[in-house]
Amino acid sequence: MTPADANDTPDSRRVVVVTGAGGALGAAISARLAGEPATDLVLSDVSPGALEATVAGLPDAGATVHTAAADVSDEAQVQAVVDLAVERFGRVDVLVSNAGVLSPNGRIHNLRTEDWERAFRVNVLGAVNGIKAVVPVMRTQRSGSIVLTASVSGLTAWSHAAPYCATKAAVIQLAKVAAVEYARDGIRVNCVCPGTFRSAIHDGLPPEALDAIEARHPLGLGTASDLVGAYSYLAGEGSRWTTGSALVVDGGYSAP
Ligand SMILES: NC(=O)c1ccc[n+]([C@@H]2O[C@H](COP(=O)([O-])OP(=O)(O)OC[C@H]3O[C@@H](n4cnc5c(N)ncnc54)[C@H](O)[C@@H]3O)[C@@H](O)[C@H]2O)c1
Repeated sequence: MTPADANDTPDSRRVVVVTGAGGALGAAISARLAGEPATDLVLSDVSPGALEATVAGLPDAGATVHTAAADVSDEAQVQAVVDLAVERFGRVDVLVSNAGVLSPNGRIHNLRTEDWERAFRVNVLGAVNGIKAVVPVMRTQRSGSIVLTASVSGLTAWSHAAPYCATKAAVIQLAKVAAVEYARDGIRVNCVCPGTFRSAIHDGLPPEALDAIEARHPLGLGTASDLVGAYSYLAGEGSRWTTGSALVVDGGYSAP
């Protein structure tokens, strides 16, 4: 990392904003993109301590990195993250909207309204807030790539996880609609649908639940590093003719 000065980034550098950057996948995506040429980052998470750990794990590849604590379900906080990127770097080329929460384990009739609301506020509204904040910047640039983290649970039915499944299905559809709405502005919107990889998101699950999930992945459970290639692809020029896609990276979970 290099010292950060305001407006010190020439247009030839790529500016990436990552939400949920303090988690397992967010940290892995941040490390991967920070290691790619001419890339600077604004990393955000609701947990400042987790962000510090992510920054400590970044490769020393010359990226200028700023961090910002923000709750993605709060529109103003997400706007402040994007404003920081514009203030420091003058542009936003890539948004990785990755923050997400699992819903409590339970059948539909047993889950509380607040369980549903939290899942929708973080997983769906969080992605909407990110899109709303970066679109005006990217429209001015006439270029940008938005990558949402959905889940294979948005494509397949997981018993006892209805809010999570419903929100991730909504994220997939959000990516598709946004892709159509903003294609003529030069903005691509895609999502990644990971299968299950080990992270703190499963901390509340009983161990036997994770064992049962693992048994349904032909390649076994993944790790966050198994997913970063998909984000690198969708963020980069190699995917310039790809928009509205839901890229499944799931160890074969959805194949049967
Ligand atoms: N782990 C899996 O098996 C799996 C599978 C499919 C999809 N996903 C998705 O991947 C993404 C990352 O999850 P992970 O597995 O790395 O979990 P994680 O818990 O390690 O990371 C999630 C991060 O999001 C942050 N976060 C939570 N609520 C937030 C909020 N309101 N505002 C801002 N940040 C917030 C957390 O602090 C955490 O750092 C999530 O969207 C998740 O739904 C995970």
